Amino acid sequence: MLGLVGLCGLAASPGILADDHRARQNYLIYCMGCHGEQGDGFKDQVPSMRGTLARLAVLPEGRSFLLRVPGVSQSSLDAELTAEVLNWALREFSDAGARQSIPPFTADEVAQARARPLLEVSSARAQLLRGEGLDP
Ligand code: HEC
Repeated sequence: MLGLVGLCGLAASPGILADDHRARQNYLIYCMGCHGEQGDGFKDQVPSMRGTLARLAVLPEGRSFLLRVPGVSQSSLDAELTAEVLNWALREFSDAGARQSIPPFTADEVAQARARPLLEVSSARAQLLRGEGLDP
């Protein structure tokens, strides 16, 4: 598997895993059950990532939120693979324009967020999105 990363030249920057095939497999196994194959979630239960992931990932407090939701912070994937899945989801579920200037999530960022679990998930989300002029 690691050999493939080198072969395909997918490892974008040092310290950041970027194997799209593995990331997609992990998404299907660890995230899709709640978020749906296309990241569009389930009405009134799981929010769609399609319109919000890139909008939140560009803000420092938005990044912190995304990394601290229970599905991410409590995933059984390790920090590196979690960052890889998030970076894959960001590319997969966001418009090219919206995701352009977003720095990739790193394993360090994931590990730091895991040490600070989010307590008020839905109010934190609503507050962030309203701050961006979006409908929570
Ligand atoms: C048990 C169901 C479940 C699983 C599994 C799960 N999530 Fe979630 N996720 C949610 C729910 C529900 C929310 C909404 C916030 C909350 O209430 O936790 C959410 C929120 C999110 C958000 C924030 C989206 C936004 O626009 O606010 C991201 C990003 C996310 N999840 C990524 C993932 C990833 C990546 C995985 C797999 C590693 C994953 N989740 C696994 C249920 C889940």
